[in-house]
Amino acid sequence: MPVVGMGTWKTFDVEGAEKNARKRMVREALDLGVRLYDTSPMYGLAEDVLADALRGSRDEAIVADKVWAGSREEGLRQVARALDIYEGTVEVFQVHNLRLWQEHLPELERRKRADEILALGVTHYNHAAFAELEEVMRTGRIEMVQVPYNLLDREVERKVLPLADKLGLGVLVMEPLGTGALARKAPAPEQVEPFLGNGVTTWAQVCLKWVLSDPRVTCVIPATSNPDHMRQNAAAGSGPWYDEQERAAIADLMA
Ligand SMILES: NC(=O)c1ccc[n+]([C@@H]2O[C@H](COP(=O)([O-])OP(=O)(O)OC[C@H]3O[C@@H](n4cnc5c(N)ncnc54)[C@H](OP(=O)(O)O)[C@@H]3O)[C@@H](O)[C@H]2O)c1
Repeated sequence: MPVVGMGTWKTFDVEGAEKNARKRMVREALDLGVRLYDTSPMYGLAEDVLADALRGSRDEAIVADKVWAGSREEGLRQVARALDIYEGTVEVFQVHNLRLWQEHLPELERRKRADEILALGVTHYNHAAFAELEEVMRTGRIEMVQVPYNLLDREVERKVLPLADKLGLGVLVMEPLGTGALARKAPAPEQVEPFLGNGVTTWAQVCLKWVLSDPRVTCVIPATSNPDHMRQNAAAGSGPWYDEQERAAIADLMA
């Protein structure tokens, strides 16, 4: 069954009162069943803010962190640091934007053999990098991929999703709301109305549920700094899912 997680790019790169607000939001999100949190050393303070937010609740969360380093040595430092701040375990460790993946995978594999990491993955947002992403998928060395997928960006439907399905890889979906563009592009209420129900009351939720209704998707990770949006996103994460006809009709609204 696919699930709703949470991204931390931009939204968790905060200090002071904002940081406390994110900590409260994570606590509430955990209570609503949002378990997977995606972060990266590329996201400023986000890795640390998330680690602080999970203190005392670490066993309730799945952390999907990344290595994003221009050298093997820097990668080793990032991995060691992440394992330290996340109390000895990072459930999903990804190579961010495929950056030096050949250099970083051996250390991630070593940490996996030591049970400090449960699953390995790679990410990329850029269609031009998908051929290389597919190459890594075929190596058999990773269990997850993270790619963009939303009503405005369906490129992964061509090759990445079929390959993930064939290889049995998990799919984390970044940018499920088109980095916010989709939420701002809501069709007229009467066009959205047929797709509401079962806890789905907003267009943003329809967009998330549209992604989650693709059986090849494991988890969407929308980012938000707004607790009300977080509640909406969490509520989009349970069935019944849209069937193929409904998905096509929703996609037509954005055509
Ligand atoms: N290369 C990579 O590995 C890579 C690249 C991109 C992203 N990512 C990961 O994917 C995560 C998600 O991607 P993203 O943050 O770029 O885009 P996104 O999740 O598609 O969109 C985030 C935007 O949507 C808004 N939003 C969220 N929930 C909403 C709702 N219910 N109603 C209305 N607006 C809503 C947020 O604003 P509010 O704060 O106002 O809610 C925010 O501006 C990132 O945080 C990151 O963890 C990874």
